[in-house]
Amino acid sequence: MDHFLYRDGQLFAEDVPVAEIAAQVGTPFYLYSLNTLLRHFTLFDEALSWGPHLVCYAMKAASNQAILTALGKAGAGMDVVSGGEYARAKAAGVPGERIVFSGVGKTKEEIRLALEGGIRQFNVESEPEMRAISEVAQSMGVEVPVAIRVNPDVDAKTHAKIATGKSENKFGIPIARAKEVYAEAAALPGLKVVGIDVHIGSQLTQLEPFEQAYRKVAELTEVLRAEGHEITRLDLGGGLGIPYARSNEAPPLPSDYGQLIQRTVGHLGCEIEIEPGRLIAGNSGLLVSKVIYLKNGEGRDFLILDAAMNDLIRPAMYDAHHEIIPVMESEVATELAPYDIVGPVCESGDTFAKGRLMPPLKAGDLVAFRSAGAYGAVMSSEYNTRPLVPEVLAKEVQFAVIRARPTYEDIINRDTVPEWL
Ligand code: LLP
Repeated sequence: MDHFLYRDGQLFAEDVPVAEIAAQVGTPFYLYSLNTLLRHFTLFDEALSWGPHLVCYAMKAASNQAILTALGKAGAGMDVVSGGEYARAKAAGVPGERIVFSGVGKTKEEIRLALEGGIRQFNVESEPEMRAISEVAQSMGVEVPVAIRVNPDVDAKTHAKIATGKSENKFGIPIARAKEVYAEAAALPGLKVVGIDVHIGSQLTQLEPFEQAYRKVAELTEVLRAEGHEITRLDLGGGLGIPYARSNEAPPLPSDYGQLIQRTVGHLGCEIEIEPGRLIAGNSGLLVSKVIYLKNGEGRDFLILDAAMNDLIRPAMYDAHHEIIPVMESEVATELAPYDIVGPVCESGDTFAKGRLMPPLKAGDLVAFRSAGAYGAVMSSEYNTRPLVPEVLAKEVQFAVIRARPTYEDIINRDTVPEWL
């Protein structure tokens, strides 16, 4: 459920007509619905209400300060994967005790930054990283809680580029070596072993891979406890998928996921942390774009939009499907026709959809990409010197630009031409 609905044939973001925002902001732009974001967070929070828990929003999905501030105020923790994300979370007012630090290669500078500003726990990804955290913590005279990310060798049954839980993936330590690594962690100064961390991939549309992974984590918890480790927290990662194509996908709901967690690890009495990103932000955001031209090609028609692969890379990168809908529905019942929907960037990869059935559209018409709130704006670039797309947040009848579109001058002035040139 989201708050992007048609009223009298016109698409609204909450109570604001999308066309009105487009007229003020210009296209393309990302548009988020605050109440959808908050609702998705609350669904996870409620799904874990059977026990102590913290929902740490994986802010890599959408990290605008306004989004972080809203979720932080609602009580969310944050899952960060870089010094930059840590700085964003803090700047949004999220206290260190609600921030977990994940990520495969934390540098000593990033570790120090988090220790200075306060951190709930580091999710350790390897033995060398564990030693680095120990070294920095010890040099600062502090002890920091850590969970070790285990790789359970489970097939997440998702796109290969976003699967992380198989032994060939770069993430975590092999679960078979966990006993050994926990023993070393317990002996290292500056570290307090508190838990186990696991994350097997993103856009999972079935519960079964989660179940396999969480059962392995439950088993490991017993093993480590028997070895004398105090395991009080389980970080179960993110990854729950969303419906991109509304017609044929129905991924499990956060409530089903919460029950699965209770069933698999609930008996251990641990505090549960989860790190959802996509499910919170994905269907809370649209990318709004305008048709520049309709071009009749050889045996196919192209809809050329003012949004391109630099604004939304997911179709080019993961062959991802995004629904593309008109902002104004046609008044009469019309036949759909197939279009190749493309952007203006000089690559054939700049194709959003091939042979997509669309109602008749003409130059100047607005369209919206659905499910673009997660991994949309954050993965955009200025390739072809196309300014970064602005972001807009709607709340009931209000909306605000939460990241402005840079001017060409802003972009050019970021570069420096050496005097000696
Ligand atoms: N925790 C960790 C350690 C992660 O690596 C990720 C995502 C998450 C949580 C959040 O997963 P989510 O709930 O959003 O599925 N750019 C790709 C997705 C990359 C996901 C990376 N890790 C895409 O556009 O599909």
